[in-house]
Amino acid sequence: MTYSEIAKDKFEKLKNKKDVLILSIESSCDETSVAIVKNGREVLSNIIASQIEIHRRFGGVVPEVASRNHITAISNIFEEALKEANVKKDDLDAIAVTYGAGLMGALLVGVNFAKALAYSLSLPLIAVSHVYGHISANYISHKELVPPFSCLMVSGGHSAILQVDDYCKFRLVGSTVDDAVGECFDKVARVLGLPYPGGPEIDKLAKSGKNEYNFTVSNSLKHTFNFSFSGIKTAVVNFVHNKEQKGETFDKANVACSFQEAVTEELCEKAVRACQEGGTGKLVVAGGVGANSRLKEKLQTACEEKGISFYAPVLRYCTDNAAMIGSAGYYMMKNGLGFAGLDLTAKPNVDL
Ligand code: KG4
Ligand code: ZN
Repeated sequence: MTYSEIAKDKFEKLKNKKDVLILSIESSCDETSVAIVKNGREVLSNIIASQIEIHRRFGGVVPEVASRNHITAISNIFEEALKEANVKKDDLDAIAVTYGAGLMGALLVGVNFAKALAYSLSLPLIAVSHVYGHISANYISHKELVPPFSCLMVSGGHSAILQVDDYCKFRLVGSTVDDAVGECFDKVARVLGLPYPGGPEIDKLAKSGKNEYNFTVSNSLKHTFNFSFSGIKTAVVNFVHNKEQKGETFDKANVACSFQEAVTEELCEKAVRACQEGGTGKLVVAGGVGANSRLKEKLQTACEEKGISFYAPVLRYCTDNAAMIGSAGYYMMKNGLGFAGLDLTAKPNVDL
């Protein structure tokens, strides 16, 4: 039998296997991560090598630098993941990998490592979308969570509201018409002179600030579930530049707080309204911006008021990690989806 025939046969048989051990790989941006996940929800290991310190001096991720660092990191991370999980290569049932969206060169490192591993171990390969991974991070943190639910997906690349009807069935309810919200956090942080990545820095600084500047989110999309954040981003950037040009002082913490209040209010109002309309009674947040403490606080309060159950992944599964890819890969396999051949390639853009 050829590799393809063996892999397909194993993939089909996995659907009915009681315990499934998936080794998953994530390399879409600046984190090299390998995890071992049992039955989609139990994380045996989740090793993450972050390149944040490397990219910090450039003020953002440099794609070529990210790819090169993934290459040097991935083999060791793989060995570490097996060791920490106390699992042997022969115990694995499948390899799952992020194939997109993300930086092309960075993704290719993970995809090619996954292909080589799948081929050498005669295991099926499962191609996972990064966004689907972020949503699935919630299955790891909340063992009782099952679809259907509404999801606010907020990261460096996405701002969207999805209706998750089943594990592998989504409907896009709304999305950004311009910038992703994480991008705006990073840009505002940069103009305030805060290090990369800016989101956590704004979150921290805003705690000591007051909401005293009137930064607002455009209300042209008020009655929709779509987002536009480029206006508020530009307003903050112009505000800071004006002050600097005039030699006037301003309180950075107040800027961070005012910006964060406006953005989180917009995200919260639309996500909760979409959840009420969706009628599932469950709202899930996913993606790096889901780590924002003020956003979670607002979502929690609003959901309590409306009788909605609110879910957020624990911090380490909010930002990029391979465990979430292992969880998503498991549910894709159970639904007969994601089986990939050795011709799998990376995709910088993937439809939500
Ligand atoms: O999901 P993620 O790790 O990568 C992408 O798929 O994009 O998200 C990264 C984004 C960055 O823009 C980062 O600044 C933002 O998530 N982020 C936060 C926080 N932690 C990470 N934004 C606001 N508050 C945070 N605490
Ligand atoms: Zn991500």
